[in-house]
Amino acid sequence: MNALTKRMNPSELDQWSNRWLDHVEQALSRWISPDAPAGLGEAMRYSVLDGGKRLRPLLVLAAREAVANGVPNPALDEAALRAACAAELIHAYSLVHDDMPCMDNDVLRRGKPTVHVKFGEAQALLAGDALQALAFEILTPDASAIPEGVQARLCRLLAQAAGHAGMAGGQAIDLASVGVALNEDQLRHMHRLKTGALLEASVMMGAACGAASEQALQGLQAYGRALGLAFQVVDDILDVIADSATLGKTAGKDAANDKPTYVSLLGLDEATSYAQSLLREALNALHDTGLTHTHTLAALAERVVNRNT
Ligand code: IPE
Ligand code: IPE
Ligand code: MG
Ligand code: MG
Ligand code: MG
Repeated sequence: MNALTKRMNPSELDQWSNRWLDHVEQALSRWISPDAPAGLGEAMRYSVLDGGKRLRPLLVLAAREAVANGVPNPALDEAALRAACAAELIHAYSLVHDDMPCMDNDVLRRGKPTVHVKFGEAQALLAGDALQALAFEILTPDASAIPEGVQARLCRLLAQAAGHAGMAGGQAIDLASVGVALNEDQLRHMHRLKTGALLEASVMMGAACGAASEQALQGLQAYGRALGLAFQVVDDILDVIADSATLGKTAGKDAANDKPTYVSLLGLDEATSYAQSLLREALNALHDTGLTHTHTLAALAERVVNRNT
């Protein structure tokens, strides 16, 4: 940890998160119109609002805080809020599709029936499509003070993380790996794509809302990469050790669907120590940024790895 960086305790992180989550919830609710035709708006709002840890938005905002270095800038603050919401929209869309019968076939998400259970498969497909498009729309507002180069960079980071070299590609590997015993390199690659890419991009989108040095960008990227992988390792662990009520989604699905996971590959104990080693890697990377305002990012990494939901 940087000598100049103070530590943030869990209740300080809660305070910080709650303050930002109010802004994120209000913005999401404003931007997801209930008026989309033929019930689509209702399905979109159901997919996104009222649930979820909102980790990706928090990472965007904490990374913006790290590069802002205590200097406010209304246009870049607005860009970061838009990026935070855009990352959550892509994530929510990925969950809607992930739960569909053609993928993981899940009936419970965020403590509620999944979108296809509630609205039907076609509407779930369309809600996911529309959420993805909306993410890019809110990154590129009309008549905005956000520099166009920043808008373009945010779009590119998000597109890469969502597409064939990121989430969608990783999900393709996931589906192709049912019943297959992947080796550690293959599993790591799948996890980095399907889940890690969007988390890493969330950090880099926050970093794009400011003027960071090359050293800072490299450190933030390494932080996001380690944290992104750690997140899915812990998701694999929670699927085995937590219950459905706590998770708000069906526990035990990976084994039931014969998915290769860090638990199936390494066992619980080794998977847990791997997550802890990724946490150390993430914290060391933050130190390497040379930035001083990284305490929120550090606290978020600890929360990701030590979470129970
Ligand atoms: C679940 O993500 C899906 C994965 C990428 C592993 P989260 O655990 O962040 O889900 P929510 O947003 O809190 O519901
Ligand atoms: C999902 O991974 C990753 C996504 C891109 C949505 P999982 O299939 O393990 O996520 P959960 O456990 O259903 O949330
Ligand atoms: Mg899945
Ligand atoms: Mg799933
Ligand atoms: Mg899972």
